[in-house]
Formats: sequence, structure tokens, C-alpha cells
Amino acid sequence: MLPDNELRFDASRQIWLDQLVARHQTDASRLLQILREVQEYFGHIPQPAISRLAEKLSIPRVRIESVGSFYSFLHLKPHGEYRVLFSDNITDRMLGSEALMQQMCQQLWLQPGKVSEDGLVSISPTSCTGMCDQGPALLVNGRAITRLTHQRVQEIAQLIRNRTPLNNWPSDFFHVDDNIRRSGLLLDNTLAPGDVLRKALSLGGQKIVEAVKTSALRGRGGAGFPTGLKWEACRNAQGSEHYVVCNADEGEPGTFKDRVLLTRQADLVFEGMTLCALAVGSKKGFLYLRGEYRYMLEPLQAVLQRRRDNNLLGAKILGQSGFDFDIDIHLGAGAYICGEESALIESLEGKRGVPRSRPPFPVTHGYMQQPTAVDNVETFCQAALALHMGAEKYRAIGTEKSTGSKLISVSGDCAYPGIYEYPFGVSVREILQECGAVNTRAVQVSGPSGVCVGESEFGRKLGFEDIPTAGAFMVFDDSRDMFEVARNYVHFFAHESCGFCTPCRVGTSMLKQTMDKIAAGHGTKYDLNEIENLDSVLQNTSHCGLGRTACNPVLHTLKHFRPAYENKLKSLMFSPAFDLDGSLARARQMTGRDDAGAHLKEEI
Ligand SMILES: Cc1cc2nc3c(=O)[nH]c(=O)nc-3n(C[C@H](O)[C@H](O)[C@H](O)COP(=O)(O)O)c2cc1C
Ligand code: SF4
Repeated sequence: MLPDNELRFDASRQIWLDQLVARHQTDASRLLQILREVQEYFGHIPQPAISRLAEKLSIPRVRIESVGSFYSFLHLKPHGEYRVLFSDNITDRMLGSEALMQQMCQQLWLQPGKVSEDGLVSISPTSCTGMCDQGPALLVNGRAITRLTHQRVQEIAQLIRNRTPLNNWPSDFFHVDDNIRRSGLLLDNTLAPGDVLRKALSLGGQKIVEAVKTSALRGRGGAGFPTGLKWEACRNAQGSEHYVVCNADEGEPGTFKDRVLLTRQADLVFEGMTLCALAVGSKKGFLYLRGEYRYMLEPLQAVLQRRRDNNLLGAKILGQSGFDFDIDIHLGAGAYICGEESALIESLEGKRGVPRSRPPFPVTHGYMQQPTAVDNVETFCQAALALHMGAEKYRAIGTEKSTGSKLISVSGDCAYPGIYEYPFGVSVREILQECGAVNTRAVQVSGPSGVCVGESEFGRKLGFEDIPTAGAFMVFDDSRDMFEVARNYVHFFAHESCGFCTPCRVGTSMLKQTMDKIAAGHGTKYDLNEIENLDSVLQNTSHCGLGRTACNPVLHTLKHFRPAYENKLKSLMFSPAFDLDGSLARARQMTGRDDAGAHLKEEI
């Protein structure tokens, strides 16, 4: 990897860059996509490229640098020919990822987070890569490798030392399993591409909206907003264009169901998006695919092309005059916050993924300030199914307030991790039985921002009436320290806070420091009280859901597993920043005064 000053922009590099910009229609809103490609080509984003892009896109250099520095997969400085990122979710850790990363660092003579002196390689941890059912996992130059073992790590280190191009690495390294363990309504569907659209065309936009409302379908991205209402609001909103956005950012640790849907049901996802386009009157859609799923880009583009060839995308879909719609895929670049819909829209517009102030909501002021329907991958699939099978029939599945089925991503301490589809209303215990979990201490439902369910609550049900979920289901048996689980989640939030608002930026970092302090044996009861105070500040002052839920993992594990914290506390009400008694010892000796009351009191 050449340092920037040696990366002279010779004619061939400049031509490549100019062609790249032209391929993106010299459109600054495509900046993130352009920077991703620059990074893939050069290994980082070199200064001369920034200057050239600023000139060609007519934007200030500072904008490019600010976008480049926001996303963790983009680098403004050389970061190694091979950039290795070990997935650092708690489930990866439980499978030994820390020791594997240490092994690779030793074999390549490298410290985590540093670039080797010869510029060959860097090794760092990264947030959950969405491979929890087949961890431990890593990304090398954006490509996922799963089921790591010491043997495999050794082989990878050798391939890197030999500078073997990634395309010549054993192909089975990059194999990703779907691990579908239980299928239902969605995963068993036998719909052919176009089946739903043919039915939808006979209904028209208004009736589609009514059908989705009647089905009582609620969004599968976590918040559970009624999909029919969202589509109706978008349809009725004034704007020069309407947009459809599929949220495939899937960054919540422990969630990987969208990965499987995009692999196995891509046609249904695109069919659902096209159905939405018909309902809201849109000509343009985007699939925002998380950077960790870069390997899916070409297969998904092939599905889109096939749909264009079969007149299921493009102009006059299925011969219907005026029904024009197409879909672009945008890749993220390693920022969990871009899953939040308004941050996602900012990112789609080629900016830093900072959440917007809401209202106005995306349905009226979304992409390019135009009406935009943003839905989760699974929501689009469920909407297509509901329309095809009939709203009333769909509504009869699941529970009254949570209709239809839900994909659950099961990982952690169980014999059969993978994807399970259940009608809503399934109990935590039923899932534990089916996935082969024994001696279970707790389940984290819906990721770090969700709920930690202890054994006494295993009868609780998944659904908006009881435990809402975007799909993550991480199982912990009685050998696990739930304090360490919460500490991993807190580190995740501190790393992923976008830094826009002070309470979240500082608060998540303070929370992380407090948990680290407790882990190091320096925590006190005072720290536990402070966490509760911090939670109230974050709840009341955070700009978006990340900050509001950042204390959840600690509060929930404290509720069920307080001894896991208390065992680590010093028995003082506060923790001195230095050893007071030790510092006073000499003075006490010299003066001969050693009053008992002048010592720090240990609590009994
Ligand atoms: C920090 C944060 C991260 C989020 N990540 C995702 C995500 O990865 N996928 C998703 O569909 N929704 C995510 N959401 C929810 C979205 O903002 C939005 O509610 C959702 O995409 C709407 O789709 P739905 O109605 O189909 O659920 C996230 C929300 C927050 C606050
Ligand atoms: S709450 Fe956190 S993640 Fe959300 S906008 Fe504020 S700083 Fe960013």
C-alpha cells in the first residue's frame, strides 16, 4: 500500500476516477457509493482522490473528508492491504473470538488497531457482522469469513503473509450458511416472481393500502408501526416524487434474518417494494444494504436485472401504462446508526448518517425532502404475502395486535442456532426448547436495545402485546456472566453513538467507563446509582433511539442478575480516585495520630 504522497495521480488513476464519477452521473448525493468504490480500488481514500472528487462533484473537500471519517469502513489514511475486522458481538466472544484475534495478531506480529510497518495488514475488532449463527466471524477487505478456528486463522495469516489475492483464497472460507431451522408462512411460500404484482394491479393503489391496513401488518424493524398507515400517509403526502426505501442495514447485534431473506427470498423483497411503489405512487426505490453484506451485492443486482428482463421492474411494469419503478442498491459502510430511518436517508443522500429531527417524518419529508416509505426487509415480504393470501386470512395468524409470522435469529448457547419462523405469540420457552438450549440463564430479545429475559419470565410471549422484537434472540446458559454480556453491549453503544448530541456521546462513554471500572474491581454502589441517573438523562435528552436505549442492557441485567454486579463491587459507597489511606499513612505515623474516624469506612 503506497502512502498518500507516493500515490501520484497519474493519468490512468485520474481516468479511472473520472469514469467512476461519470458512472454515478456526477451526482454528489452518491458520494458514499463513490467513496466506497475509491476505497475498494486504492485500499483507502487518498488525498489526491479527495481533491479530484471535490472538483468533479463541485463540493467542498471538507464534506468529503467529513463523510469519509464518519463511516468505520472508510479510511482516509492507508489501513493495510488486508484489513481484517473480527466481529466483536458477545456471541463471537463466547465462541472464542478474542483468542483467535490475539492468535492472528501474534502470527502477523501486530497490535490490534495498528497497521503493520510494511503496510500489509491491520487487525481490529468491529461491531456484530450479522453472522452470529456461524461465528466466530471476521471480515477481510469487506468479505465475511465464518466458523473461525485456530487452524483457519493460521491459514488466513499465511495467505496474508504470502500476499495471496483474496480471489485465490479457498472459496469455502467465504461460504455463508442460511441455517433455516423452522419455516412457515414466509419461508415456505411458493410464490413466483410477479404473482403478487398481478393481483395488486387489479386492485390499484388505494385498495392495496386498505388491504395492508386490514391485515394489521406492523413493521418488522423493531418499532412495529402499522405498515398500512405508513403507506397511506406517504401516498397522501404532497411531493414531486415519492420514494420507497428498504432498510437492510440490519446492524442490531444478534440479528441476521434479513441476511437470510435477501439470500433466499430476494424476489419477494423486491416484489414487496414494487407493491409499495404501486400503493404510494413511486417511481424510484432504494435497497440500503449494510456494508457487512457486501458479498450479496452482485447476486442481488442479478435478481434486479432478471426482474427488469421479465418486465417486473422498469417502464410499464407488466404492461401497465404509467407503472414505472426501478430499484438501486446502496451500500452502507459500517455505521449501526444508519439503521435509524432518518440517518439512513441522510446516508442515502451521500452524507454522514446523523439522525434528523423528527417531525417531519420521512413519509412527508424523506429522501430529498420528498415523501418516502421506509420499511424493513421482512416487512416488504410480509406485505406481499398478506396481499396475496388475503388480508383477513393473514390477520387470523399470530395474535390480535401482532398479526402474521416473525423470523427470529437464534444464536448463543444452543445446539441449533439459525433462523426460526413462528406465528407471533410464541413463548420464549418454546423457542428455547426447539433450538436445543439447556440450563438457560437468560435470553436477550431484540438485541442490546431490547429486553433481557430471566428464567422466571420464559413464559412471556414475542409480540407487541408483550415482548416486541426485531428478531434477535441471544441465549445465555448458566456458565455466562451476565455482567460481561451487558458490558459488551455497552461498549457497542459507545462505539456506535454518532456523536451528534452530547448526552449520548458523553453518556455512552461514561457508561462504558463505569462498566470497565466495575470489571476492574474498582466499582462501588455509588456507580450503580449513577447508572440509573445516567439512564434518566439519556432517556430524556437523547435525539434518537440509540441514546434512549443505551442503558437498557445494564438496567435489565441488574434487575435479574444483581449479584453478578455486586460480586465485583468494592464495599465502599464511593470510590476514591487515589489511595487516601495509603497517602496518609506516613503523616499518621509521624504525628502519632491515627483516629479510626479518619479512615474510609467499608460498608458492612
Ligand atoms: C439506532 C437504530 C437502529 C435501527 N436499525 C434498524 C435496522 O437495522 N433495520 C430496520 O429495519 N430498522 C432499524 N431501525 C428502525 C428504523 O428506524 C425504522 O423504524 C424501520 O426501518 C421502519 O421499518 P418498519 O416499519 O418496516 O419496521 C433502527 C432504529 C434505531 C433507533
Ligand atoms: S442519541 Fe446518540 S446516536 Fe442518536 S443522534 Fe444523538 S449522539 Fe447520535
